[in-house]
Amino acid sequence: MEQLATIKAVRARLATVRKAEKKIALVPTMGNLHAGHLALVQQARQISDHIVVSIFVNPTQFVAGEDFENYPRTLSDDLQLLDSLDVETVFIPTTSEIYGQHPITTIVTVPELAAIYCGACRPGHFNGVATIVTKLFNIVQPDLAVFGAKDYQQLLVIRNLVVNLNLPIEIISGATVRATDGLAISSRNKYLTATERQLAPTLYECIKRAELAIKAGASNYKKLEKEAVSTLKKAGFKPDYFSICDAKTLKSPTNQEVVILAAAWLGKARLIDNVAVQPL
Ligand code: PAJ
Repeated sequence: MEQLATIKAVRARLATVRKAEKKIALVPTMGNLHAGHLALVQQARQISDHIVVSIFVNPTQFVAGEDFENYPRTLSDDLQLLDSLDVETVFIPTTSEIYGQHPITTIVTVPELAAIYCGACRPGHFNGVATIVTKLFNIVQPDLAVFGAKDYQQLLVIRNLVVNLNLPIEIISGATVRATDGLAISSRNKYLTATERQLAPTLYECIKRAELAIKAGASNYKKLEKEAVSTLKKAGFKPDYFSICDAKTLKSPTNQEVVILAAAWLGKARLIDNVAVQPL
């Protein structure tokens, strides 16, 4: 496994890989790797010849007052895990390697999608995500990139930017990896106390309850959303949103596929989760 910190070194290595006609997959991460990240790497392994994992805690996607400083950084554990999966290349740039070379006068934005739900709660977040992902795409120039469906809105932002900017990169989504009690695995679950951790699966339970109701023919989505918000509040969550929306646009649902999207604070952790569902 090659560990590289500079854009130049990544380009040089991948030029050789590309010459050998190997299919390159990129799995972008912010490190603190867990089973969710590793599943994406394993998925990439099935469909590519050379895996690049990037580890970069991207400052521009953290909103003022968020956990950028305290975001868990566990580089040596991360490297061990990636090595055990025989990852070919790990890109671990510094902030100045990514943002320090030139003043930032260009950002990538996906206006409509980036302004709602998590984008409304975390203004500027998706501009940060779209910009870093575009930079990583330009540095690595992968054939494909794998992203988790757990961050559903992020996945849609990236699918849109790739289409709109004509990037020749196939975007693959990986299913959400969950703990045995249903909680979606996340680096931020570390912020939960033991008591909160016991309560945390309630978020997924509420989503599953709404999914069952929709599958059974319920069409009053507003009522389902209200019930879920009330259950979450009673359990001690502070919901940011619980919404049943169109799976492709995140606008009001038509009779197409819908997604149940939710974000809620539990103590110091902001949990997000979703399930895509085909109504009756
Ligand atoms: P990070 O939170 O480290 O997540 C990296 C990738 O892992 C994302 O595609 C995310 O959706 C996926 N992931 C996280 N938890 C998962 C789970 N439980 N199951 C399946 N996949 C999961 O998302 C980011 O980093 C950043 O925004 C990034 C895209 C790297 C840009 O900075």
